[in-house]
Amino acid sequence: MLVTSSPRAADSLSTRLATEIAEGIRARSGGPLTVRDLAANPPPHITPAYIQGRVTSPDDRTPEQVEAVKVAEAFVDELKAADVIVLGSGMINFGLPSQLKAWFDHITWPGVTFSYGDIGPKGLLTGKKVYVVTAAGGVFSEGAWAPFDFQANYLLHLLGFIGLTDVEVVRVEGTVLGPDAEKTAVANAETAIVALLAKAA
Ligand SMILES: Cc1cc2nc3c(=O)[nH]c(=O)nc-3n(C[C@H](O)[C@H](O)[C@H](O)COP(=O)(O)O)c2cc1C
Repeated sequence: MLVTSSPRAADSLSTRLATEIAEGIRARSGGPLTVRDLAANPPPHITPAYIQGRVTSPDDRTPEQVEAVKVAEAFVDELKAADVIVLGSGMINFGLPSQLKAWFDHITWPGVTFSYGDIGPKGLLTGKKVYVVTAAGGVFSEGAWAPFDFQANYLLHLLGFIGLTDVEVVRVEGTVLGPDAEKTAVANAETAIVALLAKAA
């Protein structure tokens, strides 16, 4: 499945490149492609009805809790059904677009996508391949700004927390650093995608 989240619509590099990966994999494997555009259809922020409803047994939920939990159930069902997940994220103020954060707040669900065991939390969404495309104006893979990468590091942590540990990251970065910077950044990402799709074949 393809999950996109940039609020920059047609200008978004993460959406464009994540779509390219998802289409490339679909072309090789056949089968349908579920698309979840979190910018076009933003998840709600989580509410008391959701937080309480998700840990209440279905029969005991209030109508408001049922509605709130339905949103998370739809997201989780899509993820469970997918063998491959392609995620696009464009850095906003050093972190994720808030639309993507709201999605994670719904899918990070105790007893459903992770559990607490004897040795701490255990991710339950296992056996899936994940490709993440992160776009950022600055360079965060190395150098002085690397400690402030609250996008890729946070994404990898959240994905791993729910069991999605087989993750490849494609970075489009440094796009604001001069006139040719975006072209170079996209070209580097395109090269990485060609290699990644060749491996996925
Ligand atoms: C509101 C806003 C905030 C941004 N904040 C940052 C930032 O904190 N650091 C950074 O390096 N780039 C920042 N950028 C630049 C974007 O990360 C960059 O344009 C990236 O390509 C966005 O991803 P997208 O192309 O998928 O939309 C910001 C852009 C916008 C519109």
